[in-house]
Amino acid sequence: MTAVIGIFDSGVGGLSVLTEIRRELPDADLFYLADQARAPYGVRTLAEVAEMTAEASRWLLDRGATTITIACNTASAAALHALRAKHPDVPFVGMEPAVKPAAVSTATGVIGVVATAATFQGELFASVLQRHATGATVLTRACPRWVELVESAEVEGPEARQQVEACLEPILDRGADTLVLGCTHFPFLVPLIEAVAGPRVRIVDPSPAVARQVSRVASSTGGSGRLILATSGDPERFRRVAYELAGIESLEPVLACTWNDS
Ligand code: DGL
Repeated sequence: MTAVIGIFDSGVGGLSVLTEIRRELPDADLFYLADQARAPYGVRTLAEVAEMTAEASRWLLDRGATTITIACNTASAAALHALRAKHPDVPFVGMEPAVKPAAVSTATGVIGVVATAATFQGELFASVLQRHATGATVLTRACPRWVELVESAEVEGPEARQQVEACLEPILDRGADTLVLGCTHFPFLVPLIEAVAGPRVRIVDPSPAVARQVSRVASSTGGSGRLILATSGDPERFRRVAYELAGIESLEPVLACTWNDS
């Protein structure tokens, strides 16, 4: 059986992870689902996100995914544990804010973490802090506007810059020299983040490490580099934003995914 790597996010953010998976496994068959009809996830309760993530994972498994990457920190925080228990035969790879490498490399001892409000509320983040933040001061900021900007491919210009400044200033003012991207939408704002934060701030994005983990668990891929894109939102809009943001194109029509309750 050919392996199919299912990749899930609330929206287009997980395309940053998809790009790294493609770099790692250029021949793998990928099936990406964006739950844009119910995005953003970051302002929802973890219970809601857990339910939606379970439904999305089921959708991908029913269509042949053999491995699932939850390319969303919020959905991972809410659902990863339960999904692994529910589908013991399916390898699930998830995301967590990369506090560990940040704590190792910070010189000032001050780390900023930008993510969604829901990610910060989860037990996963509390456990990451407890395990890896030893000795470092960790400043957290929820940046919901950043998610909206990326969803509309508005990753440059005055409005985007103002939003990036507003979110980062309190972190930078307190001496952070390392910034952890704890939301998969945020890598698309890296040029702006770099421009605002300056060269002394190191940006940590866990996507390359996550892609290496996907490559380890999806052992025999043997695919043909096929990419299927699906969304519960507007397929045409998704196709356009995927291309504008990440240069991602599929040879096939973007599939529409519908939920019973939407
Ligand atoms: N991309 C998601 C994450 O990594 C969050 C975006 C949203 O709020 O839906 O947390």
